[in-house]
Amino acid sequence: MSTAANGDAPGGGRGHYGEAVFRPEQAGEGERIDFGALAYDDFSLARLRALGAGPGWRCLDVGAGTGTLARRLLAEAEVADVLAVDRDVRFLAERPVPGLQVLETDITRPDFASAGRYRLVHARFVLMHLPERDRLITALAELVEPGGVLVLSDAVDLTSDRAPGTPYTEVMRAMWQGLRATIGTDVSWVPSYPQLLRAAGLERVAAEIHVPPLVPGSPISRFWADTWERSRAAMLATGLVDGDAVDRAVRYLDSDACAALSAGMLTAWGWKPRPAGH
Ligand SMILES: C[S@@+](CC[C@H](N)C(=O)[O-])C[C@H]1O[C@@H](n2cnc3c(N)ncnc32)[C@H](O)[C@@H]1O
Repeated sequence: MSTAANGDAPGGGRGHYGEAVFRPEQAGEGERIDFGALAYDDFSLARLRALGAGPGWRCLDVGAGTGTLARRLLAEAEVADVLAVDRDVRFLAERPVPGLQVLETDITRPDFASAGRYRLVHARFVLMHLPERDRLITALAELVEPGGVLVLSDAVDLTSDRAPGTPYTEVMRAMWQGLRATIGTDVSWVPSYPQLLRAAGLERVAAEIHVPPLVPGSPISRFWADTWERSRAAMLATGLVDGDAVDRAVRYLDSDACAALSAGMLTAWGWKPRPAGH
């Protein structure tokens, strides 16, 4: 488990999400997040509804991005309200809907754990980018009301050392390594989520993985192509790939030759115990 005591990213990086890479003010960043959301929202929403999210539920969506899931929780699951939190709320503020509250804050701030109590606390594709992840899981568990549920989703890399070398695997490996060095992104510990949720005092813990098919032109293919473009400098700095390799991988993703596994999304959840007698 990697935790940087001084807040620096493990691997030497000192940057932060939204500053060193994935800057929200850079044209197209909202669309990139939306492509990821298009690939995963149906699956996330189905899981949240299966866990009971519905009328009467007060929900917190941490690192809510463009707010697609928060809005669908309101419109389709008919939850009571959603507090959508992000370090930059420009995309959330663009499309207000009744029941959606927006809070701009950095969830690594020590006072974030005093942000109220919720039946559902949800964070997708956020903790993997934050070196303080161990502490944050404990902090998020604190925000769950007794009888409520914490749901965490993050990426699992399926390009193992044995995966055949293709333009895609070459660039994916460089992306993970480059993001780790630049902002501390680390997906290697994501399969440990169930144990981490248990360690945070939650019970009836379980998890599942969804892998969207990499079909040319699909939202997930466009998401990876956009993500590589935005992390190009970090990838080149690893020395594992050059610009031609990135361009080749983008063309490969969009071709019938593409034969690869997307990173999966692991979703893990755990319930906050009710006090004895309740
Ligand atoms: C990859 S996007 C995921 C967005 C959304 N959860 C989704 O799955 O569509 C990561 C989001 O987390 C936000 N984020 C990153 N670090 C954060 C921090 N320290 N505090 C609050 N939000 C943060 C980013 O601004 C971005 O909107």
